[in-house]
Amino acid sequence: MKIVAAENKYDMSRQAAAVIIERVRTKPSTTLGLATGSTPEGTYRELIENHRLEGTSYSDVSTVNLDEYVGLGSDDPNSFRHFMDVKLFQHLDISRNQIHIPDGTALDLESECQRYDIIIDKLGGIDVQLLGIGENGHIGFNEPGTSFQSRTHIVGLTESTRKANARFFESFEDVPRYALTMGIESIFRSRQILLLASGPAKAAAIERLVHGEVSEAFPASVLNMHGNVTLIADKEALALV
Ligand code: PGA
Repeated sequence: MKIVAAENKYDMSRQAAAVIIERVRTKPSTTLGLATGSTPEGTYRELIENHRLEGTSYSDVSTVNLDEYVGLGSDDPNSFRHFMDVKLFQHLDISRNQIHIPDGTALDLESECQRYDIIIDKLGGIDVQLLGIGENGHIGFNEPGTSFQSRTHIVGLTESTRKANARFFESFEDVPRYALTMGIESIFRSRQILLLASGPAKAAAIERLVHGEVSEAFPASVLNMHGNVTLIADKEALALV
């Protein structure tokens, strides 16, 4: 794993955006794997700014997002689909039918997971996957104990993950208990992975990622077995490495 030390969160975001922009310019039909959360927001701002000022086009780009809450539709402000629309998609020239996010309102969630894996396969896999990391080492919503062989599946969210995300909801009780997530294998098959981490709350997870053993008890550790992962982290997140 290549480790890039960023000065601060802004620098982390800028460096991640530069990799994505370069890729989209070189291969306009790139498939991007995208993530939600606080970590990638700055990267999305940089992509929008670059699109506006430099004209980088996303008209041939396809996107697949990592995960979605069960029960929240695109009109719900807490859905990841809504987050992505507001923070990124509506500011780019990407066409709606090239945007893919698991549908957490599907009546048959198992079929929805299978449908999602088929979409990723039909796209020929993910060229660049943007990832954050949970304080417990989760990637996507793959919580500790998830099989490294997993593909898109339904997950029960852990109490710690629900608490970490409660800041977006009116109350802890409103945080959904289930989500759909790309599996660890689906993520691992990406040709390139950009893992971002910022702030002191991620320092222990980054230390374990870099120095700990590869184990399903710490999902992000699987990235140590991948040949093309770049960790871009700010000084606070790298403080214990
Ligand atoms: P965050 O979430 O970017 O909001 O810290 C990352 C994650 O939990 O994967």
